[in-house]
Amino acid sequence: MTVYTATVTSPVNIATLKYWGKRDTKLNLPTNSSISVTLSQNDLRTLTSAACSEEYESNRLFLNRKLESMETPRLIEVLKDLKKLREKVENSEGNEHLPKLSQLNLLIVSENNFPTAAGLASSAAGLSALVKAISKLYELPDSLSEISKIARKGSGSACRSLFGGYVAWEMGELSNGEDSKAVEIAPLEHWPNIKALILVVSAHKKDVSSTSGMQLTVKTSDLFNYRINNIVPQRFEEMKKSILEKDFNKFAELTMKDSNSFHSTCLDSYPPIFYLNDYSRRIIRLVHLINEKSVKENGKIIVAYTFDAGPNAVLYYEEENEKTILNVFYKILSEVTGWDAQKFDFKNQEYSKGQLI
Ligand code: ADP
Ligand code: DP6
Ligand code: CO
Repeated sequence: MTVYTATVTSPVNIATLKYWGKRDTKLNLPTNSSISVTLSQNDLRTLTSAACSEEYESNRLFLNRKLESMETPRLIEVLKDLKKLREKVENSEGNEHLPKLSQLNLLIVSENNFPTAAGLASSAAGLSALVKAISKLYELPDSLSEISKIARKGSGSACRSLFGGYVAWEMGELSNGEDSKAVEIAPLEHWPNIKALILVVSAHKKDVSSTSGMQLTVKTSDLFNYRINNIVPQRFEEMKKSILEKDFNKFAELTMKDSNSFHSTCLDSYPPIFYLNDYSRRIIRLVHLINEKSVKENGKIIVAYTFDAGPNAVLYYEEENEKTILNVFYKILSEVTGWDAQKFDFKNQEYSKGQLI
C-alpha cells in the first residue's frame, strides 16, 4: 500500500498582548488584535506527522500516544479548508498526474515536549503543527499568512506560530475572517538577544480551557469591554513600536500590564476564573522587586512576566541580564523544591527568600 507522509515541528508562541475573546466562535475571529513572541523550535515544540493512504478507513489523531477525536467542529473546518486547497492543486492544469490525496483519510501523530493544556500554549504549537504538516503533505503553494487563517480556525493562538520572531495577529474587520491573520512584525534576528524563561508551576491540565474561559469572560465580565475598546487598540500600536525600536523598558511594562489586564477580566468573569495561583503571584512580586532594584540603579527594567490561561510563568529578558535573573530564580526555586543550589554562583545574596516574597 502507498502511504504519503510529511513531518514537521512547530514552536510555541507566548502572547505579550493577549487574545482573549471571540466575536465569531465558528470562524474563531477575535475581539482584539494580539502580539506574541515565537520560541525556538529547540525548546517548547510539537512534533507532528501527517499521513494519508487509501487503506485508512477513517481520520485518526494520536496526541501524546492517545487516540483523540477528529470529529470536532474545529478540526472538521480545518480539514475542509486544507482539502479544498489540495483540490485546487490537483485540478490545476498540468497536475493531472498528482495523486488525489484530497480524497484520502488522514492519520495524524503528534507529540508535545511540554505540558499539554496547562497554559503553555499547547494549542498554538499543536494546531499550527497539524496545519503545517498537512500543508506539507499536500504540497500547498499558499503563503504563511494564508495558511495562518486555517490554523486560526483550529485554535486562535496557533495562527501566530506560523511565523518566527515577533508576530501580530490582526483581528481584521470582515465577517468572513479573510483579513484575520498572522503577520510578522519583525524576524527574530531583529532583536535576537531576547530570551524566555519558562517556570512550570504546575503541569496539570487546567480546569477551564482557554476556549470556554474566554467565552465566559465575553458573556459576563464588565471589565472586558473596557479592555478591548479602551486599552488594547493603543497598546497594540505601542507594543509594536517598542519591538521595532528594541525598547525593552517599554516592551516589558506593556507585557506585564497586559498579562495583569487579561487576568483581571478572568477574575471579573462570573463565576470567576482563577488561572494564577500562589506561586504565580510570588513570581510576579519577585519580578517587580528585581526591577525596582535595577530601575533604582540604572533606570532599567530587566525582566517581564506574562501568564497565559494557566499558572505557569514566562519571563522575557535580554540575554545580558540572564545571570542576574537565573540566579535569583534558581535560589528561590531551590529553596522551594530542595534542589542543589550550590553549583550556581549567587552574586545576588541580598535576594533572600525572606526579604523578597
Ligand atoms: P493551552 O494553554 O495548552 O493552549 P488550551 O485549552 O488552549 O490549552 O488547548 C488545549 C487543547 O489543545 C488540548 O486539549 C488539545 O485538544 C489541543 N492540542 C494540544 N496539543 C495538541 C497537538 N499537538 N495536536 C492537536 N491538538 C492539540
Ligand atoms: C491566554 O488560542 O488557546 O493564551 O482559540 O479557543 O483555541 P482558542 O484559544 P487559545 O487562547 C489563547 C489565550 C491566551 C492568550 C494568547 O495566546 O493570545
Ligand atoms: Co491554547
